[in-house]
Amino acid sequence: MKAYNMELTEEEIEILEGKKGETLRKAMESVVFYGDTFRAKRLVPIDGPVHLVTSFGIPLLTPVFDMMDELIDENLMTDKLFTVDPRPLDYKNVKCSLMEKFVFKIMYGKQKEYESQLKKVGLKDDDSFTCTCYLEEVGNTPKKGDILSWAESSAVVFANSVLGARTNRNSGIIELLSGIIGKTPEFGFITDEGRKANWLIELKVKTVPNAQVLGSAIGMRVIEDVPYITGLDKFLGEEIDDKTIDYLKDMGAASASNGAVGLYHVENITPEALEQGRNLLVKDYKNYTIDDEELNRIIKSYPIMWKNKGSIPKYCFIGCPHLSLNQIYEWTDKLYKGLKQNGKTQVNIPTILTAAPNVISKFKEDEIHYNKFINTGAKLSYICPLMYMNNPICAKKPIITNSNKLRTYTTARFYLDEEILEQLTK
Ligand code: F3S
Repeated sequence: MKAYNMELTEEEIEILEGKKGETLRKAMESVVFYGDTFRAKRLVPIDGPVHLVTSFGIPLLTPVFDMMDELIDENLMTDKLFTVDPRPLDYKNVKCSLMEKFVFKIMYGKQKEYESQLKKVGLKDDDSFTCTCYLEEVGNTPKKGDILSWAESSAVVFANSVLGARTNRNSGIIELLSGIIGKTPEFGFITDEGRKANWLIELKVKTVPNAQVLGSAIGMRVIEDVPYITGLDKFLGEEIDDKTIDYLKDMGAASASNGAVGLYHVENITPEALEQGRNLLVKDYKNYTIDDEELNRIIKSYPIMWKNKGSIPKYCFIGCPHLSLNQIYEWTDKLYKGLKQNGKTQVNIPTILTAAPNVISKFKEDEIHYNKFINTGAKLSYICPLMYMNNPICAKKPIITNSNKLRTYTTARFYLDEEILEQLTK
């Protein structure tokens, strides 16, 4: 047997010797090599379902399809049913030209087969495609202290920071293999030491900052470090209610994409900050003060990737990460009031709000508000706007968004919520 640095149990060694089959051996070996790379001490059992980042059937990912077939042939699946990132396409609500459909047919040509494979290795159900798996309506909601193996960066930072669960920012597929063996390597955010903060972020602003811009500022400064944020409780209050959860969701996703933040603490709000306060800071922590001037500087630094900066937007995407139920209600209200104020009935730009299938279904149950929303001309979809935009044809389209993650990974142009509302309703 090959030499591994990690301390392994007898059972783990037996698996690595192939005594429980060649496919399980390969799954175990991949996770052990991965742990060794990060100098993990050992493997620890995972407490909750995995959440997969790879949700798209891109034919080029041949090794993934082959690996799935091997797992299925051996009847190997995750212990607990899992959730996965959003689907890339929704022709009903996000209209595509013939040429786009042609491109998508090539890009995501194996979507159906891949989804069928996912089901056989433990996918919860057809509605489990979202990056906000932790929302109540979806149900993959870890508890404080739960050890997990997730990879989607916006979900990892939420689970670690807001829920107090413990997961590293794992690589795609490693999270699935961890789910198959039921264990993850102990390093980084799984350990107490790895959850200490090495930055003190002091917020000195006059009004509540835009969550996406604040997250962006933090991410770009601390990169993959752990920030301890002060001054936000003044605006969000000390109770974690729906509004605070939405704020932290969007701030975290921006910090995870504009940098690589996998965990943050917010003084007087997040669970570990409530328990340990500034004792979470390491001895030689660094400082970063964010004031209104700094936030303006950050916004001005965003490059505009459109060929013609004066183009009329072809689409507006709101909901990256996916919107919560509360946020859909808020946008319905904002759009309705904005249109009424401006003597209009429908939005000026095709507008797509993206959310988890379960969240959309819940919203549709409220017929009054759903009809109010539909009458604005906006649409609801379960897709990932990034997967829709990441191809040469869609990348050329002038698309606007209030998401700093979408801005970072695509050619979409970022606007603040109020600016978006004005463009949609004036
Ligand atoms: Fe979610 Fe796709 Fe944005 S996975 S966070 S909607 S890039």
